[in-house]
Parts: sequence; structure tokens; C-alpha cells
Amino acid sequence: MIITNHTEHAELGQPFWRLLCSDFHLGSACSDHDAIVRQLQRAKDVGARVLINGDMFDAIGPKDRRFDLSVLHPLVARKKDLAKAIVDMAMEILMPFKDIIDIIGIGNHEETWINYGYNDPVRRVLEELAREGGKAKHGSFWGYIKTSFVVPGHRKRPKHKLLYLHGTGGDSPVTKGTIDFNRKGRNWVYDCLTFGHKHNMVCAADQIADVSDKGRYVERRQLNLQTASYYRNYRQLKDDEVLDQSYAARSAHPPKPIGGVFLCLRPDSDPDTGELVIRQDFMSDVIFPMPKRRKTKPIDPQLQEKDQAA
Ligand SMILES: [Fe+2]
Repeated sequence: MIITNHTEHAELGQPFWRLLCSDFHLGSACSDHDAIVRQLQRAKDVGARVLINGDMFDAIGPKDRRFDLSVLHPLVARKKDLAKAIVDMAMEILMPFKDIIDIIGIGNHEETWINYGYNDPVRRVLEELAREGGKAKHGSFWGYIKTSFVVPGHRKRPKHKLLYLHGTGGDSPVTKGTIDFNRKGRNWVYDCLTFGHKHNMVCAADQIADVSDKGRYVERRQLNLQTASYYRNYRQLKDDEVLDQSYAARSAHPPKPIGGVFLCLRPDSDPDTGELVIRQDFMSDVIFPMPKRRKTKPIDPQLQEKDQAA
């Protein structure tokens, strides 16, 4: 379990965005690079921090039963050093966004690749990004991102706990992963859960009842956000491509939505209790014009220490 602490300075009501995304499947002929870049650019435009939640790489090598040259992206298919080729490809896509990426985790595709004895391509990308000044961290399979808000004029620092994991199991064509929401909600404490893996996009809001520090009955919203992928299961084939079906099409998976989910957090004053709370909501795109967000103040190491102790 990887814990990441983040301190955010925000006015009351000021939105703070995260782009939660997963399953780029870089290295695959089915990875939609344009969609990835479009969404990362939107994240940059609204000042969002980015979590890439596993399966950033398709990582299908010669030892994988799904492997044949047609599953590889044309830019890497003829490279003998496939491990380097997929990392180079990722660098080209991610480099313009190095300053907004907080965490890159791994998924089952990287795990299989690592188990076959290749090295961790996420670690390689993080090393390359760090060389260029990037601060992104390895997110492993699981982790929490705890965001503490510093609001001018308020001593209390409301916190938001985001639990992420890549996801497991089949693609759940009927229940679409909603059973995982309930399973995770039974054993983990979080304000928002996100996972990918199944390539579905399903978002749900629950209402959780509690008693506040001041002994008042309160309710808060809990979000469960399942992010889709950037892997296109189907495309129109020509006569000389009839055997070039994606491995998802060969398994008769349905077409799936494309993209991640934007999580919006806002510190607010609860009208009933007067206490500072974090409002949260989600959307698959930020479709209204956003003013440029001011730059976040540099983190005060003393304040950060206090947060971690809290
Ligand atoms: Fe995936």
C-alpha cells in the first residue's frame, strides 16, 4: 500500500481537479493515442493532477499467448528491444505532461510482463521523467492519496482520502464492476474509490452517515469511480486485415467506452454545522470553459509534516 500525502491551498469553493485514468495500453495497435493526449491536455488546461492507475502499457511480449505481430503498435512491432521501444513511446506521449502527473501505478498487464522476467516499464518511465524534472511517483497496485486543504482564514484542514487500485477479475459485462464497489466499501475507508481494469465506465455516489467531531449527525458523499480505457476493441478491417482482430475482439468482448474520469474537490462550509467539508463530484470531461487555475503555492515542509502526523 502506497500512501501519498498532498497539501492543496484553495479558497472556499475553489475547485481542485484530479484526472483519474487507467488502461492506456501503450504498445498495442488498439491504443488510442489521440484520446490519451486529448484528455491529458484537458487535464493540463484545468490544472488537474493526474493519476494513471495501471495498465499504462499493454506489455504483450512474445511469451504471452495473446502475442502476435498484429497486436503490437506499428511503431514498436519491428523493434527487437521491445522493452525499450514501449518506454520510448510512453515518454513521447507523457513528456509534455510530466509536471501534472502525480502517480503511475501498475496493472495486471505490467505484472505479467514483470513475471515473465522483463523489467518494470513504469519504473523506467518514472526514471526518465525524473531526469527531466518530473516528480511522479510509482503507485504500485494499491494506494491512498490523502489531500489536505489549507483554506485561508480557517485553522482546520479538511482531508480527502482517495483509494486507488488497478482492479481485478473479469470484465463483468452485466454488473459492470458495481459488486467491487460494495466489496471495497465493506473493508476500506475512503471518500472516493477508483479502479480501472474492466474497461467499463461506471460512476456511483453513495451517502454515508456519521457523527462529526463536534457530536453532530452528518452525512457525506462517497464516490466510486470506475475508469474506462483507451483501448479500442474494434475497428473496421480491410480484406487483407481479416486476421488482425484485437485480442478483445477474439474473446468477443463488447465495444467499451474510452477515457478517464475527472474528480472535482472543493472545500466548503457545511451550512448545518459550520464545519469545513470537502464537496466532491465527477465528470468524464470538463465541458465548460474553465478559467486558468492559479499556481499552487509551494508546500511548506513544516505544514506537510503536521499533516502526516495528523
Ligand atoms: Fe486494461
